[in-house]
Amino acid sequence: MTIIYEREPALAQHLATLLGEAVVVTSADGLIARVNADRGEHLVLFGPSAPIEEALGFTEQSRRRRPGMGVLLLRTDLSGPARAEAIEAGVRDVVDPGDHSAVLRAAARSQQLSQRQNNDTVVLPRVVVPEPPAGADPPREEAGPPPEEPVGGQVITVFSAKGGSGKSTLATNLAVALAQGTKAGGPRRVCLMDLDLAFGDVAILLQLSPDRTIADAVPVADRIDETGLRTLLTRWAGAKDTQVDVLLAPVQPAQAEDVTRDLVTELIHLARAAYDYVVVDTASAFSEQMLAALDATHQYVLVGTPELPSLKNLRVVLDMFELLDYRREARTIVLNRADSKVGLTLADVERVLRVPVGAFVPSSRDVPLSANRGVPLAVSHPQHPVSAAIRELAADRFLGTAAPARRGLFARKKG
Ligand SMILES: Nc1ncnc2c1ncn2[C@@H]1O[C@H](COP(=O)(O)OP(=O)(O)OP(=O)(O)O)[C@@H](O)[C@H]1O
Ligand SMILES: [Mg+2]
Repeated sequence: MTIIYEREPALAQHLATLLGEAVVVTSADGLIARVNADRGEHLVLFGPSAPIEEALGFTEQSRRRRPGMGVLLLRTDLSGPARAEAIEAGVRDVVDPGDHSAVLRAAARSQQLSQRQNNDTVVLPRVVVPEPPAGADPPREEAGPPPEEPVGGQVITVFSAKGGSGKSTLATNLAVALAQGTKAGGPRRVCLMDLDLAFGDVAILLQLSPDRTIADAVPVADRIDETGLRTLLTRWAGAKDTQVDVLLAPVQPAQAEDVTRDLVTELIHLARAAYDYVVVDTASAFSEQMLAALDATHQYVLVGTPELPSLKNLRVVLDMFELLDYRREARTIVLNRADSKVGLTLADVERVLRVPVGAFVPSSRDVPLSANRGVPLAVSHPQHPVSAAIRELAADRFLGTAAPARRGLFARKKG
């Protein structure tokens, strides 16, 4: 059912008739009581008489607590910046209450998103372990040296020393790009792990309901196996022939502390056995858990933005990587929002970093818009420059299909 928050009785009645099954509330208290009474509520419309600050406050709260809840704002008088603020807060759309078909379309779109999120189920690809012939001795662990190249999937970790640089945006879109695979090789099996344990955003970015999270692994940490991992994953299947199985971050930030370094290592190890790629989103910290993830990583995607504090911190990360002895050739520096006009040239950027930038992702307001819609740009707008840049990164570095050479957004001067 839909809830309409509108104080003007005639308009409230009109909207309720338009939307079919809907209830009307006339205050924030009434709205909260209604929402708490029915966990099935998936759509709230804030009519023109509902105070905007109440609408935005409610949206921000429900984003974390009830990510499946859609919020629409019915307004005709919203300025560009106020509209952007609403979308940034998580409002799915702002529509004119007088435009009936726009209201119906926005409501249907939001309900579809909520429904898809509630239907997410997981069936992990089966790992087939060949049976030993009858009577054969079980294989001995010390038989033969360990393989040079790790067997199983490749672990790609997206990291930066500074929050807000675009890790989650990159990790989600990269996971989708990898899952799409290549024409020749077909789709790939991808597991995305949200190891930003206190404030993970992947559930919101992919519109997944955090019913099962890494926190559920804590009580069984010493005996988790592939079947156990399977029960913890939430499947995202938001595009045709493309799916990503996601290990979501805990809902309560305090639960992050219970996830040990060993548990992180074990979960990555199990995921590698079942997937071609394990993409890890991280918190901007050298915590025990992040170090465990970085230790288990084959390819590092290090993100920065073209501002001096971000670049300085990225340089600190690179120095730290030297100390930790993480392979240089396994690092790709990604400059996010690379075209922002902030007075730094590519030469300036590389002078600060002392290493070349490997990939450039442009800045676009479509990125936060896609975050609020819960649909990665790689899916909703595959030809978008941001999607194209991330797809190229996936192809160049990880899928083994070098894309045609491309001049960066910061064109390099010859000579
Ligand atoms: N290329 C881009 N163009 C415009 N906005 C962007 C771009 N990349 C990221 N953003 C926006 O910047 C904000 C931070 O991005 P994101 O959440 O991906 O960063 P993060 O490093 O994961 O942050 P945190 O450290 O808080 O987890 C978001 O609002 C996102 O929509
Ligand atoms: Mg993040």
